[in-house]
Amino acid sequence: MEKVILLTIETSCDETAASVVSFHKNKPSSITPLSSVVASQIKTHAKYGGVFPELASRLHIEKINPVVEKALKEAKKTIENIDALAVTVGPGLIGSLLVGVEFTRGLAMARQLPVVALNHLEGHIFASYANGEATTRSPFIKEPSLPALALIASGGHTMLVLIDKEFHYKVVGQTLDDASGEAFDKIARMLALPYPGGPALSALAKYGNSKKFTFPVALAQKDNDNFSFSGLKTAVYYKLRSLGFVNEKAEPVLNKNNKQLKSDIAASAQKAIVEALVKKTINAALRLRVKTILGGGGVMANTLLREELAKKAQDNKLDLRLTPLALCTDNALSMAIAGAYHWCRGNVGSWQTLEPCASLPLKDVKV
Ligand code: KG4
Ligand code: ZN
Repeated sequence: MEKVILLTIETSCDETAASVVSFHKNKPSSITPLSSVVASQIKTHAKYGGVFPELASRLHIEKINPVVEKALKEAKKTIENIDALAVTVGPGLIGSLLVGVEFTRGLAMARQLPVVALNHLEGHIFASYANGEATTRSPFIKEPSLPALALIASGGHTMLVLIDKEFHYKVVGQTLDDASGEAFDKIARMLALPYPGGPALSALAKYGNSKKFTFPVALAQKDNDNFSFSGLKTAVYYKLRSLGFVNEKAEPVLNKNNKQLKSDIAASAQKAIVEALVKKTINAALRLRVKTILGGGGVMANTLLREELAKKAQDNKLDLRLTPLALCTDNALSMAIAGAYHWCRGNVGSWQTLEPCASLPLKDVKV
């Protein structure tokens, strides 16, 4: 078998996703995406202002079969053509992870297929290996040079990871409280914006003056690679409270409408989040003397963050490799890239060894 056809499944949070890719058995950079299907649960969770875990697992159960079938159909493959499976085993919501893992286990057992167990955070890192914005571009993968520093900024995580060689990870900094995506989501909620808050807040921020309010950029000291966003959230709450936009429970006061002021708050809060992310990333990259910065995770879809990172990377002569927009938020194609690299290095198990883990750490992989 020279060519491997890999089916990847991702259900760690609120997106049910499947992707089929092909690659040469010894060359993961030869990946060709054949399909990537994402069934988003956003509409359902938006009613609750955030992800409702029990509902998320129930919806994964409903969607997983049709999503996998669609991924196979779009790839013009049948299950008989699949050589291997890959599935996200953590970190994530345990009920959500279980659906993907058990589905994969059943498929692997029935078809006698090998399985690659994937770490969701690693998938966000490997997504930055995709070659530019057009995910149909050929070649699909452009490998960055290592060592590199990866910024993972998502709804559940915000961390800086030093990758000195393939699969060798050292978490050099992480958030001490809220993740950056969580900060976007919580501030958006106080502004009566829909879930997920990141895209809604940055859309509103376009009309605002980011200098109108000064919100704290936490832990700005040079020798500290950790993040903190809960102080910012509290500062925004007190400002909104003083303006009468939220009540004492931080719930939006619905009849209070002043779009300009809200836009100014959105722009100022976004600026503080972006500034913290950019400052910490550039400082760490310079101190650790890496030449390459990788960026991934849902928050990396933020336009201001992409622009600011690009500017600062250029000023400091650093090579910046940001995940293409289409792959920033959760999807199975990003995970498939990690899957192909693990397959080619022999990190392959079977249905018997699959185990979901809600708090799975990003750890080195023996090869
Ligand atoms: O990676 P992801 O899809 O899921 C997790 O692994 O957590 O990230 C979702 C997060 C949410 O918090 C969402 O608000 C944020 O990414 N996000 C954004 C943008 N698009 C999504 N945050 C800021 N600006 C955006 N454009
Ligand atoms: Zn994610």
